[in-house]
Amino acid sequence: MGNKADFISLSRLRFSHFILLVLLNPCSNLVDCSGEDVKCRDTERQALVVLRQSLTDPSARLSSWVGQDCCTWKGIKCHNQTGHVVKLDLRNPFQLINGGVGDPEAYKRSCLGGKIDSSLLHLEYLTYLDLSLNDFQGLEIPHFFGDLKNLRYLNLSFASFAGEIPPSLGNLSSLQYLDLFADSYSNNGPWELRSSSLKWLETLSSLKYLNLGFTKLDDIGEDWLQIINMLPSLLDLRLHWCHLKSLPLSLPSVNFTSLSVLDLSENSFNSPFFPPWLFNLTALTELYLTWNFFTGSIPAEFANLKNLQVLDLSNNLNLEGEIPGLFANLSKLRILDLSANNFQGNVHEFFNGFSNNKLEFLDLSSNSLSGELPNSLGWLKNLQHLDLSSNSFWGSISSSIGRLSELRRLDLSYNMMNGTIPESFGQLSQLVDVNLVANSWKGALKETHLVNLRRLQHLRLTTEPEPTSEVFERLIRVVTRGRDPEYSSVEANVNSIDLSGNHLTGEIPDEITSLSSLRILNLSRNFLSNGITEKIGNLQQLESLDLSHNHLSGKIPQSLTSLASLNQLNLSYNNLSGRIPLIPKFNDSSIYEGNPLLCGAPLPTKCPDE
Ligand SMILES: *[C@@H]1O[C@H](CO)[C@@H](O)[C@H](O)[C@H]1NC(C)=O
Ligand SMILES: *[C@@H]1O[C@H](CO)[C@@H](O)[C@H](O)[C@H]1NC(C)=O
Ligand SMILES: *[C@@H]1O[C@H](CO)[C@@H](O)[C@H](O)[C@H]1NC(C)=O
Ligand SMILES: *[C@@H]1O[C@H](CO)[C@@H](O)[C@H](O)[C@H]1NC(C)=O
Ligand SMILES: *[C@@H]1O[C@H](CO)[C@@H](O)[C@H](O)[C@H]1NC(C)=O
Ligand SMILES: *[C@@H]1O[C@H](CO)[C@@H](O)[C@H](O)[C@H]1NC(C)=O
Ligand SMILES: *[C@@H]1O[C@H](CO)[C@@H](O)[C@H](O)[C@H]1NC(C)=O
Ligand SMILES: *[C@@H]1O[C@H](CO)[C@@H](O)[C@H](O)[C@H]1NC(C)=O
Ligand SMILES: *[C@@H]1O[C@H](CO)[C@@H](O)[C@H](O)[C@H]1NC(C)=O
Ligand SMILES: *[C@@H]1O[C@H](CO)[C@@H](O)[C@H](O)[C@H]1NC(C)=O
Ligand SMILES: *[C@@H]1O[C@H](CO)[C@@H](O)[C@H](O)[C@H]1NC(C)=O
Repeated sequence: MGNKADFISLSRLRFSHFILLVLLNPCSNLVDCSGEDVKCRDTERQALVVLRQSLTDPSARLSSWVGQDCCTWKGIKCHNQTGHVVKLDLRNPFQLINGGVGDPEAYKRSCLGGKIDSSLLHLEYLTYLDLSLNDFQGLEIPHFFGDLKNLRYLNLSFASFAGEIPPSLGNLSSLQYLDLFADSYSNNGPWELRSSSLKWLETLSSLKYLNLGFTKLDDIGEDWLQIINMLPSLLDLRLHWCHLKSLPLSLPSVNFTSLSVLDLSENSFNSPFFPPWLFNLTALTELYLTWNFFTGSIPAEFANLKNLQVLDLSNNLNLEGEIPGLFANLSKLRILDLSANNFQGNVHEFFNGFSNNKLEFLDLSSNSLSGELPNSLGWLKNLQHLDLSSNSFWGSISSSIGRLSELRRLDLSYNMMNGTIPESFGQLSQLVDVNLVANSWKGALKETHLVNLRRLQHLRLTTEPEPTSEVFERLIRVVTRGRDPEYSSVEANVNSIDLSGNHLTGEIPDEITSLSSLRILNLSRNFLSNGITEKIGNLQQLESLDLSHNHLSGKIPQSLTSLASLNQLNLSYNNLSGRIPLIPKFNDSSIYEGNPLLCGAPLPTKCPDE
């Protein structure tokens, strides 16, 4: 009974009946309520009133649910001709970012909760129901949801539903989107959804999107894949962290070949092999298989997945062998994450194939890769994020790196780089975050290395330059240039500097105290001398200051006591003198040890005037 039927009935009515009906009820079952004048149905309005009464609503989000025309109430959309409620969108508008950051109290206040009255069933024409990001405190998903026959979209994610998913959902034969994703730690959980069999899915033949992330499916047996295979319309399947154990290796025929997104990450399957049917899913654009303990080398069949844009094989720990050149055949690849595996050998074959491709994100960190970084690295012109940390790469950074004009993050830390940083590094004007520590770099950094890095926020670097204070002063001048009228348009907003272990000499340049956004400063293990300026108190955002293992002398500046955010301090192994200022939260003697001329608590040495 859609609006078409309503029209047919209408055309059969005599005019007088029409007037009469309009007078009695401006929007009865038989009257076209098109355009602006569309009014809601009485039964549906009453059903919504009952629904509202069953819900808790601490922030009065539903305060607009008064008056006759429910079509104007917040979160409700009526059909523009029949006036039937077709959409109920009660998603919490106050979203928590990353499942926690934000204002948890404000979020909680804005959550709906309580019960969900079955009066909802009076909304017979409902096609869209979104209850996501609310807090139903472990309520079971109501069985009667299976009777909302016209539903095409059902979103219950992040809403603290728990218990067995009602198999009655299998009656929603028009359903296209089903989202039950629930990070169990949201909303003071753990609330856990379970399903002991996915048989109810079989009848959802219109399903395009299915997200059961964090649902416990440890009992579902081997047939789960066969059931998924019966969903010919499925485009997007997300089974992240579902406690799935078996990943069947064979399928008689692969029917769900329209699949575009497949997320099976963090299931720890009990078989370590990539199933062959995976490579028949040639429409895949995104594939997530992280944390599943797959082992062995990358099968050549990955080259079949020509539409892949995102591939995440990270954290399988035991994927091994050389990284093959076949990735270059995946010409649409934007994101490739192979980190935290056991890949070995050099990366020449891997990089040499790539040219003029779309790769934006490459993470090969925490493997056993070695050798020199090839010149072909510079071909990845669209790269924004490059993480090669925690491998055994050696040699110099190829000067071709200067061509990576989009690069924002570069991490080469914890390698064996024993060559130089090329001057072309200075062309990477988009760099925000650079980490080059824990290597054995040779040669001094020059101003040209850094002068164009206008967006730099995080700099971690260890080099072995000639012991010269000039380098350090230039460096600091470069990162502080935001204060320099010559660079007034610069966006510099440096908030962490780690130049520990660099053979830096001379005094700590005053300019550093003008970096008002600085949160982390680590200058430990250098040869810095002279006093620490009182102006250090200007760094009001400072959270961590490590000046240990230098030759700093003079008194500890009193202004340190005014740094309210400072929660990490280390001044040990210098030549500081005089009484330690009273900073109650820094009462650990190891912060001050190795300064023979310091006295007072927390050191055992009494000051002469005591
Ligand atoms: C009613 O909605 C449909 C789609 O939902 C739209 O195509 C149509 O233009 C709308 N009609 C009016 C009168 O707003
Ligand atoms: C379901 O709701 C969540 C949270 O509001 C949202 O992030 C997600 O995209 C929605 N799912 C679908 C399929 O629209
Ligand atoms: C589906 O609906 C029919 C009738 O509406 C009902 O008899 C049946 O129990 C429902 N199926 C499930 C699995 O709940
Ligand atoms: C898959 O498709 C084949 C051929 O179209 C069909 O015979 C088979 O029943 C389908 N399998 C499933 C599980 O739907
Ligand atoms: C996968 O694709 C290959 C070739 O494209 C085909 O020979 C094979 O039968 C397919 N496998 C399944 C299980 O459908
Ligand atoms: C990958 O691309 C190269 C060069 O374009 C080609 O020679 C090779 O056959 C391709 N490999 C596969 C598996 O498609
Ligand atoms: C850098 O390290 C590699 C590998 O350990 C070594 O073969 C090479 O000689 C070293 N180069 C320099 C300049 O020290
Ligand atoms: C500063 O760097 C040194 C050496 O790189 C490191 O050991 C130390 O933990 C760092 N300090 C802080 C506070 O992180
Ligand atoms: C330590 O500082 C004192 C002055 O406070 C100075 O006389 C002395 O020479 C310094 N010692 C060293 C080893 O730098
Ligand atoms: C050091 O400070 C902590 C908290 O700031 C306090 O609990 C502790 O008792 C203090 N210890 C000493 C030895 O003053
Ligand atoms: C300060 O640095 C010294 C020397 O590196 C270290 O032994 C000590 O544990 C550090 N203290 C704190 C509180 O980090």
